[in-house]
Amino acid sequence: MPNRELLLIPGPTPVIDEIYEAMAQETWGHTDPRFAAVFKACLEQTRKLFNCDGEVFVFAGSGTLAMEMAVVNTVAPGERLLVISHGYFGDRFVELAQTYDIQVDVVQVPWGSHADPEEIRRRLAQARYRAVTLTHADTSTGVAAQLPELVPVIKEHGALCILDGVCASAALEEDMQRDYGAPGARMDVVLTASQKAIGMPPGLGIVAFGQEALAVRRQRARVTAYFLDIARWQPIMENPVRYFATPPVNLIYAYHRALGIVFNEGLQNRYRRHVAMGRAVRAALRCYGFSPLAEETIAAPTLTCFRYPPEVTDNLFRSALAERGVVVAGALGPLAGHAFRMGHMGNVTQGQLAEAIVKIGEALVKQGIQTDPQSALDAFHRTWRAAEQGD
Ligand SMILES: Cc1ncc(COP(=O)(O)O)c(C=O)c1O
Repeated sequence: MPNRELLLIPGPTPVIDEIYEAMAQETWGHTDPRFAAVFKACLEQTRKLFNCDGEVFVFAGSGTLAMEMAVVNTVAPGERLLVISHGYFGDRFVELAQTYDIQVDVVQVPWGSHADPEEIRRRLAQARYRAVTLTHADTSTGVAAQLPELVPVIKEHGALCILDGVCASAALEEDMQRDYGAPGARMDVVLTASQKAIGMPPGLGIVAFGQEALAVRRQRARVTAYFLDIARWQPIMENPVRYFATPPVNLIYAYHRALGIVFNEGLQNRYRRHVAMGRAVRAALRCYGFSPLAEETIAAPTLTCFRYPPEVTDNLFRSALAERGVVVAGALGPLAGHAFRMGHMGNVTQGQLAEAIVKIGEALVKQGIQTDPQSALDAFHRTWRAAEQGD
């Protein structure tokens, strides 16, 4: 089932035929040993994706449910959570945690900038926080949290480090057994969803808990959730023939295929390809006068928020582009109308991105703006080559 449109919003991302085909297989019973074997393989691959020595949980739901599972199992009502927010999705943790009567403080970073580790250190010294949340790539701003700068500060203070990888997993390294920036500075929980760099349709929530986070859950008699309580899911994740709640069987087939594609490419190759995609798209669009919100040193490899030059009108530009079969997203919050967001992640190809760059040039021409698509394309390919060579 070939896609009719090139979906370059920051998720969902283009789903390739192989994954659609996997999803279209006959639905087996959810406790059928044949299905359990596929599910088990997915769990092993998920463990490998995050190099997780604890337990991984894969369930029907979106990224928000995965955020909720991460928080509700680690932070009790009345305990403190520090949210480091690089934008709209960082902010989401605040309301989510308040819903569970968690005491939340937030380090609000101006949109497009990166958190200052010293400020985090100061905040962590002021109170005893059970956990700190970080958003790996905030989809509103295109800022990537610099893990080697932030994880060691979080771990200095003994808080659990919860990473939202919804717009990053399988594109940026998220290695739960790696020391980030200091000995023992490791992430405790990484959560994600299926529809972004993993390249699947939406529908799966995925959360990896390290040993320290699992121990925190074990020390609590109960959590204020039913479906999201990992204690209820753990027996199923150990042996998927067991039942707690019906898994989305066909999405699990698709996930199995999607992770197969990720590991066939190889994690390091995939991370390098994403760096190349991000840099090359930004180089090309700068030629048209768009300016990325985040500086290159903190720019996410998975998506970019581009500010418009003054002569471009948001809805005219995006609808002219959509007429040409390329779909990008509007900006969020204070940037709405002044910027757009473009995803460059998952199984999207160099050829598809090049095609989008030409169409973006055409959409600008439709608004009476002169463009030079050839120089944009040259910048795209030149930057891609340089990034692949490690420059
Ligand atoms: C970084 C980030 N976190 C969380 C979410 C929420 O995920 P979902 O919309 O799948 O609930 C998103 C969605 O775009 C996101 O980009």
